[in-house]
Amino acid sequence: MLDRNEIKVNLNKEIDESIQGSALKVKSTGPKSKKFYIESYGCAMNFNDSEIVASVLDTMDYGNTQDINEADLILVNTCSIREKAEETIRKRLKYYDIIKKKNPNVKIGVLGCMAERMKKTLLDDEKIVDLVAGPDAYRDLPNLIPVIEGGEKGMNVFLSRVETYDDIMPKRLDTGGIASFISIMRGCDNMCTFCVVPFTRGRERSREPYSILAEAEDLFRKGYREVTLLGQNVDSYKWINPETKEEMTFAQLLVLVAGVHPDLRVRFSTSHPKDITDDVLYAIRDHENICNYIHLPLQAGNSRILELMNRTYDQEWYLNKVKRIYEVIPDCAISSDMMTGFCSETEEEHQDTLYVMEQAQYSMAYMFAYSERPGTPAQKRFDDDVPEEIKQKRLSEVIRLQRQLSFAHNQRDIGKTFKVLIEGNSKRSDEDFKGRTSQNKVVNFAKKEGLKKGDYTFVKIISGTSATLRGEIVNV
Ligand code: SAH
Ligand code: SF4
Ligand code: F3S
Repeated sequence: MLDRNEIKVNLNKEIDESIQGSALKVKSTGPKSKKFYIESYGCAMNFNDSEIVASVLDTMDYGNTQDINEADLILVNTCSIREKAEETIRKRLKYYDIIKKKNPNVKIGVLGCMAERMKKTLLDDEKIVDLVAGPDAYRDLPNLIPVIEGGEKGMNVFLSRVETYDDIMPKRLDTGGIASFISIMRGCDNMCTFCVVPFTRGRERSREPYSILAEAEDLFRKGYREVTLLGQNVDSYKWINPETKEEMTFAQLLVLVAGVHPDLRVRFSTSHPKDITDDVLYAIRDHENICNYIHLPLQAGNSRILELMNRTYDQEWYLNKVKRIYEVIPDCAISSDMMTGFCSETEEEHQDTLYVMEQAQYSMAYMFAYSERPGTPAQKRFDDDVPEEIKQKRLSEVIRLQRQLSFAHNQRDIGKTFKVLIEGNSKRSDEDFKGRTSQNKVVNFAKKEGLKKGDYTFVKIISGTSATLRGEIVNV
């Protein structure tokens, strides 16, 4: 185990070299004669990957445009997690087809998970697609794009065991944001039976920590005040220093990133319940700027279903983990993902999901009906035998309960004061700011002279719905 002070010393020495490395390898070529437009779907990792793509294209003759109608190259970064996600992409391809009919020179590229899953069939099925590139192939775009410009089809769906893009500083596509993502690992080795991700993103690999720090420092210098460390299973982050053979765990990485500046908030997503350690909980407890918020997907509350899903924990184990989180960090908010109607789930087993939700007191949740994905272990081994209307009925019960739990969670905040990071104007009124608490809750409150986006202020909560809180600035 590395001592915290030792890490700091290493960090100071390495970080500048790392920034230089990134700057050297991803050099912008100046004014551009062509334009690319990129649309992203799916998880935060995909959005972050689009920024890596933007950075790679910046080394070519392509500048970014937000206007699809003036693009020479239209890219869509795709998701395969549920059938609906792929249907959305197919609809978009139909829309791009209309654009291509108006301007036959425009090229269409499909990136990301659907590109990886479908490979050449995507080129065969969708005639308008010129380019197919999987999540590990973005470094190859400077080779593939000239091929499609020459009128041929281009494809690279090779999945790497080592690619982490660690030397590429993502080019931020949002403008004026104060919160950003940093990918710390890629792929997933977990093999949950329902999930397509291990097939679309390949084996798990962790990114070199000093490049992560360099990115966090760079974001802070540019005015960002919140970073979310991203991975499909961040708790299994593990990096071994090739020279010293010392290991860096996720908890140690969290502490390092939190050291960039006390005003830089650090979040992370996603935690797998089986892997989150006490060290991670202590890191959150001991560092004010590591947010008191954990996304801890449950998927299902019944132990037999969890076993069929290969989640490797059961109901009791999950609930003990939740108990431990509240013990170490009493004001921690926990959110979750739930899936209804997995293969052979009975009504009684579904009730277990509702039971665990109540016990865990989630602040928020993402909820889905199970969607069978081709090639996954569940598709090969089990029957997708819960009728769609039952899946939907169970889903609406889960959603209804979560709405009540979120409302109750927010009601418990009334009268409490939170340190809030101001994100900008509220949706409803320019007179109000919108901010976020450490627990990841949105708070709206009246503006005050001298405060601006990116500042911290203290807000006392006066009311709340199931979605947001309302408060007023207080002096503490
Ligand atoms: N790595 C993360 C989840 C990534 S996918 C984790 O392990 O928690 C995000 C969510 O999509 C999952 O948590 C799950 O709830 C949902 N999901 C994944 N595959 C699905 C499928 N086949 N059908 C429906 N929902 C699915
Ligand atoms: Fe999918 Fe499971 Fe990996 Fe999450 S942990 S990405 S659900 S296989
Ligand atoms: Fe979708 Fe791929 Fe993310 S399948 S959820 S974009 S890892």
